Amino acid sequence: MIKKSSNTIWHHATIARADREKLHGHRSVILWFTGLSGSGKSTLAHAVEDYLYNIGISTFVLDGDNVRHGLCSDLSFSDHDRVENIRRIGELAKLIIEAGIITLTAFISPFKSDRNAARNLVPHGDFLEIYCQCPLETCEQRDVKGLYQKARSGQIPFFTGIDSPYEAPEDPELVVNTHEQSLDESVERVINLLIQRGVIDIPEQGSDSFL
Ligand code: ADX
Repeated sequence: MIKKSSNTIWHHATIARADREKLHGHRSVILWFTGLSGSGKSTLAHAVEDYLYNIGISTFVLDGDNVRHGLCSDLSFSDHDRVENIRRIGELAKLIIEAGIITLTAFISPFKSDRNAARNLVPHGDFLEIYCQCPLETCEQRDVKGLYQKARSGQIPFFTGIDSPYEAPEDPELVVNTHEQSLDESVERVINLLIQRGVIDIPEQGSDSFL
């Protein structure tokens, strides 16, 4: 993208990300959930956030539908606007991890190149891509928001999986099969990923959880 704001000079904060992480008592990373509409991204991201909140971890969820009510309300679902949507979210997530907070993003983010661009905004290891894998037929059967039915009847153009593409991740940090695994199992796998990557410590016995 062309940078139009010239004559701006970066101001270096005296409090660094490492200081804020120390204050929070854990590292900050981006947990990037991707998958079809209805694949369970938001449900899983919020369930992971619930778990982390209850063990004292600072988090924030950026959710596609919500963000499109405000920051990205000027964007449509054309390929061009989806690219801009994900660019903004990548930049926002980068800011939030600078604040020492674990950021969970739940966007279809259908294009590999956009997800990779978001990955490349932050240091290696700080972007954990989680593919919510779920067959289109299952998402369509669930049709939680009734949007697939509308898309099939031609009321919503460029609907992902119907007449707009979804490019599945080739090498995500984690694949969660939301049609085969329970929500608790999926949460457990994400928490284990955070433990393996040294983002959080193993929760103490007896903490409110699936463990
Ligand atoms: S993305 O493709 O740009 O990443 P995003 O995650 O922000 O999409 O928004 C997806 C949500 O918008 C879906 O879960 C659905 O509720 C709604 N939506 C409305 N129109 C469309 C469409 N044409 N394609 C996909 N999702 C749509």
